[in-house]
Amino acid sequence: MSGILSGKKGIIFGALDENSIAWKTAVKSHEEGAEFILTNAPVAMRYGEIQKLAEQTNSEVVPADATSLEDLDNLFNVAIEKFGKLDFILHSIGMSINVRKGQHYTDMNYDWTQKGWDISAVSFHKVMKTAWDKDCMNPWGSILALSYIAAQRVYPGYNDMADNKAYLESIARNFGYYWGKEKKVRVNTISQSPTPTTAGKGVKGFGGFLEIADDVSPLGNATAEDCASLCVMMFSDYTKRMTLQNIYNDGGYSNTGVSDELVNSYFAGKKSEEE
Ligand SMILES: NC(=O)c1ccc[n+]([C@@H]2O[C@H](COP(=O)([O-])OP(=O)(O)OC[C@H]3O[C@@H](n4cnc5c(N)ncnc54)[C@H](O)[C@@H]3O)[C@@H](O)[C@H]2O)c1
Repeated sequence: MSGILSGKKGIIFGALDENSIAWKTAVKSHEEGAEFILTNAPVAMRYGEIQKLAEQTNSEVVPADATSLEDLDNLFNVAIEKFGKLDFILHSIGMSINVRKGQHYTDMNYDWTQKGWDISAVSFHKVMKTAWDKDCMNPWGSILALSYIAAQRVYPGYNDMADNKAYLESIARNFGYYWGKEKKVRVNTISQSPTPTTAGKGVKGFGGFLEIADDVSPLGNATAEDCASLCVMMFSDYTKRMTLQNIYNDGGYSNTGVSDELVNSYFAGKKSEEE
């Protein structure tokens, strides 16, 4: 098969349904010639549609809870048995119980905080440690995780996921240093626009985040498809020396203060309040 990922093998975490960023990335990676294993938490197998994706992309599904070193060990053993060494890994995983249950940031349930932190951030370290110990990445391979700008700025409602994303990005840089030095492997995060997926829609006030970001971004919000295209690019040899980066895929949002649209709608709102 031809394509910019021709001959590349990998593991894609986090395809839940066809809105998922990981789902779209799997479809595009397949179109570009990649072969991969699809994985998600065992519980997601029950209501997810991952088998449909597996058929579409001719790939195997191996359930793994990304917080379980035992599950990850099994997953990587299957991948190594099937492919030998790997060229890419996508970590497209996030979950906060505080967000899901509407627990306010100032009144966190710390058991939930810990669980969400493990799933959303530490699991990236666990994935990389498993791959590291098995020495299963080819030189110039690419490891990628998905982040959000709440790692740098305040978004009330994003709750402890903001802290999880900050931690995730830090893990990418710090583990990425060793991957680069010792294995010639890239590690990056993509900071994506708000995107209507199961995880996205679970955030309080998500509709507002989405619309405001779209109004502020000169190019408008990046879609899940846009993100999938960037993931493919990041897995490819066209980005060989990009590492330790947090790449904004956000239509220019992160470097824009305000837009005319936002100012106009703010004053329109004020005017109608006065009337
Ligand atoms: N949707 C957005 O607005 C947005 C914006 C920026 C970044 N992101 C990030 O993109 C990534 C993918 O999310 P999405 O928007 O595609 O939503 P999604 O809900 O489709 O994907 C999240 C995935 O995480 C998986 N997951 C949860 N717990 C797990 C566990 N213990 N082990 C393995 N997998 C587990 C879920 O099953 C699901 O497949 C996440 O890191 C998310 O934070 C999303």
